[in-house]
Amino acid sequence: MCPHMPIDLPIGNEKHRNMKTAEDFLRAIERRAKLFAPSATATFRANKELCSWVLDPLARWADAAYGEKAFDEAALGYAKYCLGVAQAQQIYERAGKYTPEAMPEIVAGVYEDEGYMVPYMWAAILIYAFWPSMIAHIALFRDEFLRRLPANATVLELACGHGVLSLDALRNANAGQATTYQGIISAMLAEHLPTPKPLFDSLGAQIAPQGRVFFSTALESAQRDHVFEFHRESEPLRMAEDAGLRLLRLVSDASATPPHARFQPRATAMVLQAR
Ligand SMILES: C[S@@+](CC[C@H](N)C(=O)[O-])C[C@H]1O[C@@H](n2cnc3c(N)ncnc32)[C@H](O)[C@@H]1O
Repeated sequence: MCPHMPIDLPIGNEKHRNMKTAEDFLRAIERRAKLFAPSATATFRANKELCSWVLDPLARWADAAYGEKAFDEAALGYAKYCLGVAQAQQIYERAGKYTPEAMPEIVAGVYEDEGYMVPYMWAAILIYAFWPSMIAHIALFRDEFLRRLPANATVLELACGHGVLSLDALRNANAGQATTYQGIISAMLAEHLPTPKPLFDSLGAQIAPQGRVFFSTALESAQRDHVFEFHRESEPLRMAEDAGLRLLRLVSDASATPPHARFQPRATAMVLQAR
């Protein structure tokens, strides 16, 4: 868990009247990431309730923690990320496989570089609400994972990044220090690992008997720090099954792809349970 943003805000005063919402992120994208605004707006309009569920609390946390400038920073991070992804996908199409740097370079140049990581993490949140391929992850996460956990469940999130999914979990569950957990979140992590098997083994070993795992990953979707190339939804599922888990629900949606592209960038999310 990394609850580094304040959770509650004063209500009934000036702050309340100016309460920020998901639409503040959208307006910032219209100002600072114009190229990506039409598609973000269309995804938002088609999924307003879900997008607001994930971004309204974030807008309040962001405003309380960083003030108005957070929205423009988030939008700039989103633009940088979307451009980087489009470029990486073109290189992938030409190369025919992911061509990542060595892990030490990725760790130093991405994960340990605040200048790279802060805009990246803003984008990592915003894509959940503004990418058509990611919004179904939020529906699955909320309705088939979070809302199916018992009250005060113990929840572990691996590689929480921005921490927003954990903060959502904190609305109904507890951050836990346990040997097994009733909920485990592993969102958009496996594709960053040279060998994902230990991740699946740890999900299988640490989930409580009736607990639920929310797992997601990218497939055929190049990015500077994507190192493990999944081609089929069956590949991560098989790894999960081999680690003693079984599937309850799966969603998978593709991003827009140019005609004749050999790869279909997409992201799959699963809710799994101990077998
Ligand atoms: C795309 S972000 C996902 C963040 C968040 N889970 C989400 O769903 O948006 C990938 C995260 O994986 C983390 N990560 C990458 N390699 C890792 C590793 N070997 N061990 C732990 N975390 C790792 C990164 O620091 C980053 O926060």
